[in-house]
Amino acid sequence: MADFLDNAKLNIERLKFFQAFEIQLTRLLGGWLPGVERWETKHEIGLHIFQNAENSRDLRTRLWELRVSNPDKDVEAEVLKTTNALALAQHDFELLTGVYLVVKKQLIEAYQAYVKSTHGVYDYPSIPVLKRCIATNTEQLEWAKRELVLLTDSGEKKRKMQCWLRYTEELVRAIGGIDGQGEKSDLPMPPPAYSLLLPFSEAKRDERFKVQIMGMPMPEKSERLEWLLWQFANYAAEMQAAETLATVLWETEGMPWEFYFDIARHCWDEVRHSKLGETRLAELGYHVSDFPCSVGSYAWRQLFDPLIRYCALTYIIEAGSFKLKHESYQDYLVEGDTESAQAIMFDIVDETMHVRWGSKWVPELMKHYDYGQTLEHLIEACRDIVSSHSVAPAQRKAIEKELARA
Ligand SMILES: [Fe+2]
Ligand SMILES: [Fe+2]
Repeated sequence: MADFLDNAKLNIERLKFFQAFEIQLTRLLGGWLPGVERWETKHEIGLHIFQNAENSRDLRTRLWELRVSNPDKDVEAEVLKTTNALALAQHDFELLTGVYLVVKKQLIEAYQAYVKSTHGVYDYPSIPVLKRCIATNTEQLEWAKRELVLLTDSGEKKRKMQCWLRYTEELVRAIGGIDGQGEKSDLPMPPPAYSLLLPFSEAKRDERFKVQIMGMPMPEKSERLEWLLWQFANYAAEMQAAETLATVLWETEGMPWEFYFDIARHCWDEVRHSKLGETRLAELGYHVSDFPCSVGSYAWRQLFDPLIRYCALTYIIEAGSFKLKHESYQDYLVEGDTESAQAIMFDIVDETMHVRWGSKWVPELMKHYDYGQTLEHLIEACRDIVSSHSVAPAQRKAIEKELARA
């Protein structure tokens, strides 16, 4: 075959590996999100979960243009060997080491090599796609380097980090390198006693937080400052919704690519809602850790499979949250608190999308998990579950009203 045909074929194979790494890293980071302790680290990983999904989308679009109708074929299984092994990390700093210092670093180098070597006219549309991937991944890598200095604050942690770094490098080598085109070998053995910690049954928080199971009690609406602080502390607690969605990314295997893309966006939105709460509290003179930090919502949802978790979140919890939000929006407008009103308005926009995604993906998940009953049956089951398990006063109140109406 002519050389240029071999090269074109090779480039397509490379793009397939890049695409698969981006989306599988989103799933891996999702699996680990609840296990990451430091609050600021968790927030940044939430952003990366969606950035990687966006990179994957752009690479898939380019592959489709290059007439690759199934970009995952023959590649996904190879990439999963690596990401599943990376999931065996025992500490968040090890996970960051493998994902960023090894995989992301090598992806950036491979993207740069592709841009340099491909035909600058014929394959031009690949170049801006890869340049965008280089930009986001370089920012992520630089962040991870700074973060790891903070997270590995002892000789023992530094030693573990180096050991995990070597293991991850061997892993990538074993699948034929980051673009899968080199010589392949047997996967290396993980360090002794390294077994999978995922899925996490509890959401971790760092030592600044006063962790408790129950959500903060709902104050009287007439107590305006108390209400304001309660509402935005509740927003900050939406990190738990992000963590639940992140587990769905990891635990649900074999769904169409669009599912992972939508859930990645949903997850990042909840991370932003948490930030929205934190930001508003800071404007009011408080740090998020001044308030009790509930982790009970994450914990009870983990008792159920991803179908129930996702259906309960979208069909019951999110769908039931609008009444209070609309009332609060109006109250803040009347009081002239435009900052709070604006925050809630943007949140309502996001939540409307989340509920739509629920009705798009719950029926698909029912097929995926062979749920033998109707959608109505599932929704009622989820309503009962939220009613008996929820630790958030606003959720319980919304359900009581709903049940009283029925
Ligand atoms: Fe939210
Ligand atoms: Fe939401």
